[in-house]
Amino acid sequence: MTHAPHERIQVVAHRGASDDAPEHTLAAYKKAIEDGADALECDVRLTADGHLVCVHDRRVNRTSNGRGAVSALELADLAALDFGSWKDREEGPDWASSATDTSVLTLERLLELVADAGRRVELAIETKHPTRWAGQVEERLLLLLKRFGLDTPPPGEPSPVRVMSFSARSLARVRAASPGLPTVYLMQFVSPRHREGRLPTGVGIAGPGIRIVRNNPGYVEKLARAGHQVHVWTVDEPEDVDLCVRLGVDAIITNRPAAVLRHLARS
Ligand code: G3P
Ligand code: CA
Repeated sequence: MTHAPHERIQVVAHRGASDDAPEHTLAAYKKAIEDGADALECDVRLTADGHLVCVHDRRVNRTSNGRGAVSALELADLAALDFGSWKDREEGPDWASSATDTSVLTLERLLELVADAGRRVELAIETKHPTRWAGQVEERLLLLLKRFGLDTPPPGEPSPVRVMSFSARSLARVRAASPGLPTVYLMQFVSPRHREGRLPTGVGIAGPGIRIVRNNPGYVEKLARAGHQVHVWTVDEPEDVDLCVRLGVDAIITNRPAAVLRHLARS
C-alpha cells in the first residue's frame, strides 16, 4: 500500500453521490464534493458528434426520458433529455429529490466543477467501450485533460486524475499518449494470468470489485506485494468498508460517500 498507516482510506464517489442524487448528474457530483469525497468517479462515452459525456450505460434508456445509444445521439439531442426523473420513480413517494442540475453532464463541465471546488478533488475517469471507438475516447479524453492542465501530473506531486478501464488496451493507449497519468485496471473477476497479483504491463493500480475482495481477501496482499495500489468498487456496506480498511486498501469507490465518511470517522 502506498498510503501511510495514519492516513485515511481514500473515498471516491461512484457516479457522484449517486445514492442521494441521480447518477452522473452535476447534482450528484456537487453533493459528493459537499459530502467531502476525496475523488469523483465517472464513466465517459463519446456522442455521435464527438463530445465526451458522463453516462454509464450504452443507451440512455435507463437514466433519462429518452431512448437510444449515446454513440448515435448528438450532444444537442442529449441536452434535451432529463437525466433526473428516473431516480424519483425508482425511489418512490418517500424520496424527496431536490436535484435540479439533471441535464446530461459533459466531462468538460465536470472538470470545470472540480477546478472550482476550492479544495483538492481527484478524478477517476473510466473509459467505456473503448474498443468500439478504436482510440477516439482516449484521444478526446487526453485532449480535454490537456486543456485543463491535467494530462501530466505536476512535478513531484501525485496526479489528481487517473484513468480506469476494464480494457487493458484502453489503458495502454492512455499511457502511450500520456505516460505520467496513473491507470487503474478494473476487474470483475480475476483471470488466471492476474492470479498472483501481476497486472497488465504498465498498469500501476488494481481495481477489483468488492466481491473479489470478499471471496479472496488475500488477493489484496498479493497485489500490494506486486507493487500495486488497490482501489475497490463498489463499497457501500459498513462491513465491506471495514474489510477494505483492515486489508489496507488504498481507495474505496462508493455510491454513499457521506455515509462511508461518517462510518470511517466513527471507526
Ligand atoms: O469504479 C469502477 C466501477 O464503476 C466499474 O463498474 O459498471 O459501475 O462502471 P461500473
Ligand atoms: Ca464506472
